[in-house]
Amino acid sequence: MIREIIITSRNPDGTTQIAPMGVRQDGAHYVLAPFRPSRTLDNLTRERHAVVNFTDDVCVFAGCLTGRYDWPLCAATRVPVQRLQESLGHAELEVKEFEDDVQRPRFLCAVVHQETHAPFTGFNRAQAAVLEAAILVSRLHMLPAEKIQGELEYLRVAVEKTAGERERLAWSWLEARIVEFGSTAVPRSAAS
Ligand SMILES: Cc1cc2nc3c(=O)[nH]c(=O)nc-3n(C[C@H](O)[C@H](O)[C@H](O)COP(=O)(O)O)c2cc1C
Repeated sequence: MIREIIITSRNPDGTTQIAPMGVRQDGAHYVLAPFRPSRTLDNLTRERHAVVNFTDDVCVFAGCLTGRYDWPLCAATRVPVQRLQESLGHAELEVKEFEDDVQRPRFLCAVVHQETHAPFTGFNRAQAAVLEAAILVSRLHMLPAEKIQGELEYLRVAVEKTAGERERLAWSWLEARIVEFGSTAVPRSAAS
């Protein structure tokens, strides 16, 4: 199973790289597979540590895809990496194995520490829709406009029916990004 999380890693200048990523659990290990090129990949290779942040705030996912990286951070407990201050929980990782690949290397990571900060409060369809739209935005340069349009129309139903304030805000950032990209996918009224 792949879970969508926010990975934080340490840049060479000491700042924190924040990136949405899919991770797989393999027994007690996490498998991270960043596509080349990626700062997260460079950071994992150099620093050998990262934090997997479990958050249901879809603004962080949509924000990272639309140039909003200013999320509150704090020190992790056991690894020299910052983590999201607000999350449901986090796992602190140490790289144990690296499998190189020209396109998508894999890091097998052990959990050296984990914490729970808040309870899981249930699935929300708008959150899932925002995640799917964020994936579309990450592939704008690869996908035909008709496909983006069709998928957004479908996803918008869940947002309109079930979103809260954070989901609506995240959705608006993604729609604006699609319009900015020049796709005809978003009706003018929906992008405002
Ligand atoms: C929900 C979601 C899941 C993603 N999963 C991955 C992933 O597994 N691997 C990857 O390389 N990029 C993934 N991306 C795209 C990265 O977040 C994005 O390319 C990011 O800029 C990574 O580059 P960086 O390490 O230089 O920040 C995902 C994006 C979203 C919205």
